[in-house]
Amino acid sequence: MTPQEGFSPDIIGFLCNWCSYAGADLAGVSRFQYPPNVRIIRVMCSARVDPAIVLEAFVRGLDGIMVLGCHLGDCHYLTGNYYTEKRVKTVKSVLESVGLSPERLLIDWVSASEGERFAALVKEFTETIRELGALGKEANCDIQQLKTRLAAAKETLTRDRIRWLVGRERELTEDKNVFGERVTQEEFDQLMFQTIEKEFEKRKILISIGDDALSIKEIARKMEASPGKVLRNIVSLEHDGLVSVVGIEGNSPKYRRVRG
Ligand code: FES
Repeated sequence: MTPQEGFSPDIIGFLCNWCSYAGADLAGVSRFQYPPNVRIIRVMCSARVDPAIVLEAFVRGLDGIMVLGCHLGDCHYLTGNYYTEKRVKTVKSVLESVGLSPERLLIDWVSASEGERFAALVKEFTETIRELGALGKEANCDIQQLKTRLAAAKETLTRDRIRWLVGRERELTEDKNVFGERVTQEEFDQLMFQTIEKEFEKRKILISIGDDALSIKEIARKMEASPGKVLRNIVSLEHDGLVSVVGIEGNSPKYRRVRG
């Protein structure tokens, strides 16, 4: 891909306090050169980076996000970065559903003594984002539609069911349950994918309705989706008490978002 001319990516780097932030500090003290595109946010552990925060950063127009932590096995809180690794994998799959390249989100490890490695990672990631272009260049839609999808993805990742699955992935796939069974990674990935997809479709509808009262056809037009698909999800949303019929126009019921 040819880099977009004159494009200077906006990148956020979430760095854990105990390793990566110290590594970035060392890069500065050692005067290793790297592009100035990354704004650094220090977090106590990479596991503090909630998936919804990553999505919010993209909603606000960031072009790329780096999550850097201690090397696996070296986390100050022992297992934090193992959870981060699983979460980032989930967020990457959500980015794909939105239409963005998963390469816009990087997870990697930098120790306190790896200033040179930090500088190299920033250089490489900035180049990757430069080649991808401004946020949404690869998505087949306008920026407003992309933001709606990202907002829906963010809402999806904050649902209790999804949070529970994201938080329990390690235990479910690595430990045996009370019956001595273990969920395979493949089974878990499939369950996660289906749960996210289902929730994502519903969230897109809720965001499309906004504060209006809309018919199935109007929602479908707004979402560029088939009315049949919207109808299936509306039935489920109505059942969950998240939308309700507030009137009828011609033969078409109008739906309004209720809560959630
Ligand atoms: S403290 Fe560095 S990743 Fe947890």
